[in-house]
Amino acid sequence: MDQPTVTREKIVQGLRRLGLEGGEAVMVHSSLSRFGHVDGGAEAVIDALREAVSPGGTVVMSALTVTPAFVAAHVRAARQGRIDREHPVFDVAETPTWAGRIPETFRRQPDVIRSWHPSHSVAAAGPLAVELVADHHTSAACGRGSPYERIAQRDDGRILLLGVGHEASTAMHGFEQLAGLPYVEHPEVCRIPIRTPEGGTLAETRLHVFHVQRELGRLEGRYISAAAETVTRIGAAPVRLCRARMLRDITLKALEQDPWALVTPRGRRTWQQMQATGNVLDPAARSIPR
Ligand SMILES: CC(C)(COP(=O)(O)OP(=O)(O)OC[C@H]1O[C@@H](n2cnc3c(N)ncnc32)[C@H](O)[C@@H]1OP(=O)(O)O)[C@@H](O)C(=O)NCCC(=O)NCCS
Repeated sequence: MDQPTVTREKIVQGLRRLGLEGGEAVMVHSSLSRFGHVDGGAEAVIDALREAVSPGGTVVMSALTVTPAFVAAHVRAARQGRIDREHPVFDVAETPTWAGRIPETFRRQPDVIRSWHPSHSVAAAGPLAVELVADHHTSAACGRGSPYERIAQRDDGRILLLGVGHEASTAMHGFEQLAGLPYVEHPEVCRIPIRTPEGGTLAETRLHVFHVQRELGRLEGRYISAAAETVTRIGAAPVRLCRARMLRDITLKALEQDPWALVTPRGRRTWQQMQATGNVLDPAARSIPR
């Protein structure tokens, strides 16, 4: 089937249709290929985002680097009261993100700053960039004190999902963390060497538990009926624009009623097994039968 061709102008029109007016602080997650063919590639999408939040808006993207091996190494070290210096050090300027072509292109642009969190950094450009990224390396990965939470505290905070669903939205894990759910973070505070534009230092943070399977789109019907989320299509991509604060409130309420609201039955069994065996770091936990 022929792929639609999408231009920067079409993306701006789509984002305006969704309700971006300019001035918002927007956390973006994306899939470039879902659009079809984008004329100008990742740069064109970024240009469109910058235009859609103008004047006065801030574009933020998850620039994640977290891997199970990274988490296991640093949590083990924290348990033993030491610092892991063998694992590759997170370098704020150099370490690429695995979160996609669009954030990887964005984080390298000259006016973009990146937070210093060694697993869940964000890249940001715009008037709120400095305020949003500040001290991320000493806060929660995506919960309390993180840029993800800061966006959800703002009336103008938005989450924009370009061709991806809520399963790709880091803020959802932040909401789980704010709800105090035990399956989200390892309890140990890890001291992690990082390289920053100001020199080497230590991050002090908790890292996320892997392997607990989620279904993060489960509450989407509630978001849409509360007018917290609007959906359109740009090219071949489904695009969702969400009011971050409303999403947080709806999600926290749902998690208060049912702490397993975002976890699949399999994920719940995995977590219970991890608790029973004390084997929270072992990737073999993934092989627990359905
Ligand atoms: C994983 C993920 C990035 C994969 O999406 P994707 O569209 O396959 O990959 P990217 O966004 O990196 O875009 C690159 C792909 O776009 C395609 N592409 C290249 N140029 C293109 C263009 N001009 N127009 C359209 N597509 C193009 C190619 O297929 C390319 O893949 P390749 O590098 O292997 O050739 C996406 O599904 C996702 O999950 N994004 C969100 C990640 C995230 O923030 N997660 C948070 C978890 S808490």
